[in-house]
Amino acid sequence: MMWLPCGCTSKYLFTSLSRRIVKYYHDFSGKSSNVLACMPEAASFEGVWDHSGLYEFSVGHTDSFWGAAARHRLTWISPFRSVQDCDLRRGTIRWFEGGKLNVSVNCLDRHVHTFPDRVALIWERDEPGTEVKVTYRQLLEATCRLGNLLRRHGVNRGDCVTIYMPPCPAAVVSMLACARIGAAHSVVFAGFSAEALADRIRDAQSRIVITVNQGVRGGKVTELKQTVDLAIQSCPSVQKVFVAMRTESPVVMTARDIAMEEEMQTEDVVCEPAAMDSEDVLFLLYTSGSTGKPKGLVHTQAGYLLYASLTHRCVFNYHDEDVFGCVADIGWITGHSYSVYGPLANGGTTVLFESTPIYPDPGRYWEMVQRLKINQFYGAPTAIRLLLKYGDHWVHKYDRSTLKTLGSVGEPINTEAWEWYHRVVGDGRCPVVDTWWQTETGGICIAPRPSAPNAEIVPGMAMRPFFGIRPVLMDSEGKVLTSNNTSGALCIAQPWPGMARTIHNNHQRFIETYCQPYPGYFFTGDGAYRSKEGYYQIIGRLDDVINVSGHRIGTAELEDVLNQSPMVAESAVIGYSHEVKGQAVYAFVVLKKEVDVQEADLVRQLKDMVSKNIAKYACPDFIQCVQRLPKTRSGKIMRRVLRKVVERDLDGLGDLSTLDNPAAVQEVIQGHRDLC
Ligand code: WTA
Repeated sequence: MMWLPCGCTSKYLFTSLSRRIVKYYHDFSGKSSNVLACMPEAASFEGVWDHSGLYEFSVGHTDSFWGAAARHRLTWISPFRSVQDCDLRRGTIRWFEGGKLNVSVNCLDRHVHTFPDRVALIWERDEPGTEVKVTYRQLLEATCRLGNLLRRHGVNRGDCVTIYMPPCPAAVVSMLACARIGAAHSVVFAGFSAEALADRIRDAQSRIVITVNQGVRGGKVTELKQTVDLAIQSCPSVQKVFVAMRTESPVVMTARDIAMEEEMQTEDVVCEPAAMDSEDVLFLLYTSGSTGKPKGLVHTQAGYLLYASLTHRCVFNYHDEDVFGCVADIGWITGHSYSVYGPLANGGTTVLFESTPIYPDPGRYWEMVQRLKINQFYGAPTAIRLLLKYGDHWVHKYDRSTLKTLGSVGEPINTEAWEWYHRVVGDGRCPVVDTWWQTETGGICIAPRPSAPNAEIVPGMAMRPFFGIRPVLMDSEGKVLTSNNTSGALCIAQPWPGMARTIHNNHQRFIETYCQPYPGYFFTGDGAYRSKEGYYQIIGRLDDVINVSGHRIGTAELEDVLNQSPMVAESAVIGYSHEVKGQAVYAFVVLKKEVDVQEADLVRQLKDMVSKNIAKYACPDFIQCVQRLPKTRSGKIMRRVLRKVVERDLDGLGDLSTLDNPAAVQEVIQGHRDLC
């Protein structure tokens, strides 16, 4: 049983529209005549005989579509009364009310009845060749043991458990054990600092935190238990810390700490699943927004699981017994939906990737594909851009003939990276599915598949809405743009089961952020382009959120941290195009008058503050000291101007008439020249 841990938009995106249309036949359904294979329940929808017909049906007869999908795909303890009761204007979203189910039963028990010994998880540990496989039976047993242990420690239905762990079976067991007993989980990315972790624990009011003694990634050890110890000093709600052992190194254990695997051994392998209402909370997941405080998006049981499983099956053309390799961390929504819930709800075999794309060398992904015989590979453009720089030989070295679909997520994928992924990694025979979605959407909303088997895919475009998703583009006056070959703010016109229901403890913020900007529509915060043919391409965030290597960071969140420095009077943070990371962080700081500091010391101290308060990945690449920031007469920082300076687009500075202090712009330009 010791399988548990022991033992902005990039500039080059636009130049990317080469419009090389890739047409190939890809057998997405097994038989071309049976194009509905990814959704057999659709056979009962009258008049539906192909993917576009199914899409039209899904948006036109939403209740019939999602009702049939929910009955067919989920195992219910008691059936739902109504398919949906949603009002986007008021921000009330309810799906499958009256129904009761248990998510862990859907992900485990029902598969254990039919194929107990199928591998559920392949834990691809940091050291290549040391993977650990966990069958559905083992996963259910461990989940039940931990569910019982959590119950014994007083965790009740409705409580929220914080999980601070890297991808590993113990983390998945923790998520599913919470689902088993009706507790919500909040997984916090194990790269976050003690401060960031503490913020999230406090907001969720967790009494229990689950962690590992140490993390191991890219050959480096991180002291995760120590980080938890530090974090909970400012979290009075925490009563117990469960500690799983990833390495042999002992850690200091106090009366509050529980040796998780040891205690699980004494628990029963049977654990009564809680009968959860469809709309009970399944998990919180914190993400950055345009204000300083990260928001805990709330996902509920039935709708989320249904959406994650259907998108997993259809977008990637997942077939039974395929090995699904999503390399995202479980601390992000991609890990939740496509390493854990989607694949497990489908009875799939899913890889948990603990390492990095370049450890021990840049062939890591493809060596893993060969060794684990991965059929669908799902990764981020930033990693693809990094790997293509190392050259094709790292890919050619390994056999990738098992690959059928290649997925991309998290940020726009530029044409060069797309082409390389398609031509070199996929040998030109695997469709590349560029999948657009968000923590808020729960699952993929725009992707090239499913579609007719031989339908075209344009490099760098997310292409087509998923079943039930009606994207619209809005102009600056809030009117729907009906024509093609146009760009606007991306909204979704009708609710879908996977969408987030609220922001934990702040429904008003949910309404203001997503429902009010375009009343009656869900506003995504992204801009998009719709081509002549009606295909979508995501342009990037419209708000003050920067996307660094696929990780969202709010500029306000960063400024909050920088402004905490006793040396800093004020700051302004922007994102700029970066060849590998997509976007990187550039900070302008104004020092307090009396401060006298060497610039190198200042930069080091401010970077330290950002890693300590948020995470390493959020550190600015450049910090420029300025005398003052360009501001409007009403005192607003003109970020647009700062962005243009950093992008060296001085002709595009635009209208400066509202500027209060024109000299500030010249200073910023000069300082930027000196720095870069
Ligand atoms: C961006 C990740 C372009 C987008 C699943 C979105 C993308 C944010 C794509 C959500 C894509 C995600 N093309 N941009 N295929 N996928 N994004 O919440 O700006 O971590 O709003 O969810 O990432 O990031 P999140």
